Amino acid sequence: MTSLAPPNIPLSENSPPLRVALQAAAAGGQIVADYFHQGVQVWSKSEQEPQNLVSRADLESEQKVAEIIRGYFPDHQIVGEEQAKGSIDADHVWIIDPLDGTNNFAHRIPQFAVSIGYYQSGKAQCGVVFNPIRGDWYWAVRGQGAYHNHRRLSVSAAQQLSETLVGVGFYYDRGVMMEATLRALHDFFKAGVHGTRRFGAASLDLCMVADGMLGAFFEYHLSPWDFAAGGLIVQEAGGKITTARGHPLPLQATSVLASNNHIHTQALAIVDTHHP
Ligand code: IPD
Ligand code: CA
Ligand code: CA
Repeated sequence: MTSLAPPNIPLSENSPPLRVALQAAAAGGQIVADYFHQGVQVWSKSEQEPQNLVSRADLESEQKVAEIIRGYFPDHQIVGEEQAKGSIDADHVWIIDPLDGTNNFAHRIPQFAVSIGYYQSGKAQCGVVFNPIRGDWYWAVRGQGAYHNHRRLSVSAAQQLSETLVGVGFYYDRGVMMEATLRALHDFFKAGVHGTRRFGAASLDLCMVADGMLGAFFEYHLSPWDFAAGGLIVQEAGGKITTARGHPLPLQATSVLASNNHIHTQALAIVDTHHP
């Protein structure tokens, strides 16, 4: 049985937000894991995007995560994918994806996570991504590195795009964005990458870049809760994250390219060309 307790991390005393993020992710993860094991109904968020699913697991996880954060930081804003609609421009804001990878969850694939990022004046301070089924904790504190459980993460040392696996995500659009993504994938194959992968949970995809498994990951439309934590984890592992145009990431819906840094320019040449 996988332990859902947060890893016992030797932290400097000045990282209370991380402790809260770990506690909140453990509680959200417990809810998600319980529903995963017992089975739960999922439904479409809208007629326009029938593949964009939600369930009681998403809603209850977010409620619990937000409740724990509010208990410690009542003045902070909370932005969650499902219900919490705080101001993302506030000085102190927590950005939550209570279940990233709902499609995997719905199809009984244990590749999903609770993702929590804490931002101060627009800058990520800490991030936690937790897969409660596999017991995978990814976490980072600004300036203190990124970790998988107790192991320090570093991005792949590959200097050439052709030496790497490239991860990709598809938003729920089945039109322009999907076609652009397929064209970019075509060019990655032509560039001789070892392969491409679509795992289905952006927060974990970013952690796989941080862990050196993927040389790069891109998606043409992500929301802040998809990358709020994973983006910091990539950077603290020595990687780079920008938009698919090569610009700094805004804290709003955007395209994303994350990489081990060394191959960023090579990957950018492809994703920028096909950017919808
Ligand atoms: C989705 C996943 C998926 C990505 C989608 C996201 P959700 O999040 O991260 O990998 O391709 O764009 O919306 O809806 O499962 O929280
Ligand atoms: Ca998500
Ligand atoms: Ca979600």
